[in-house]
Amino acid sequence: MTEKIATQGITPRDRLIVALDLPSIAAAQAMVARLGDSVSFYKIGYQLAYTGGLSMVGELAGAGKKVFVDLKLHDIGNTVASGVESLAKLGATFLTVHAYPQTMKAAVEAREGSPLKILAVTVLTSYNDSDAQEAGYRLGVSDMVEMRARQAQAIGVDGIVCSAEEASNLRKILDPKIALVTPGIRPAGSDIGDQKRIMTPTRAIQSGVDYLVVGRPVIGAADPKAAADAIVAEVAAARP
Ligand code: C5P
Repeated sequence: MTEKIATQGITPRDRLIVALDLPSIAAAQAMVARLGDSVSFYKIGYQLAYTGGLSMVGELAGAGKKVFVDLKLHDIGNTVASGVESLAKLGATFLTVHAYPQTMKAAVEAREGSPLKILAVTVLTSYNDSDAQEAGYRLGVSDMVEMRARQAQAIGVDGIVCSAEEASNLRKILDPKIALVTPGIRPAGSDIGDQKRIMTPTRAIQSGVDYLVVGRPVIGAADPKAAADAIVAEVAAARP
């Protein structure tokens, strides 16, 4: 099997994205220091961003780390474009937007000429068919995921955030250069927390996932560095 373009030249370590879901910049900085060379890619989401954590984007990028800013943007095109330009200047590598055509187009155009890559969130994984219907959608969740993923590809989005279960289907219908980025990863034997649909790192890689987003199994572990090393070892040993 030829290597997927989305992960070509990328080491197993670079495929692990650790979610810094922590309540303060000090706690996040302490975790980054603890993880040291074991982790090269971090995710900053609402919790840390809204306590001033976006200042860590430049700090981490300056230290040679990659940063995934998970703010799931969705607004009028002009506002999305301005936000994307600002984040690109900070040195972020990945940014999420909701998979609405206007939003995706604005984001893709605004990131031109920068290393920032845009990831589309098709349908939030907390939604089932009846939630989608209640929100006014005609399609069921799986049809909507597929439709939006195809639209994302046509618009030039760089990757899709998807559940591990969606990954194998999306891998079949999408160009190999589109990165699949997947949360809900749980190493065998770890606590599943509030994640309902989970997959081990090995199964995720086998399903065509490119990047694994892992929070609590690393940052909540007694030894976060050892937990990260174990996941990277599992990714290295897994064959797609
Ligand atoms: O702690 P855990 O490994 O469950 O963290 C997963 C991370 O991925 C969290 O930051 C969470 O917000 C995010 N995420 C998710 N499910 C999605 C999208 C994002 O768990 N569908």
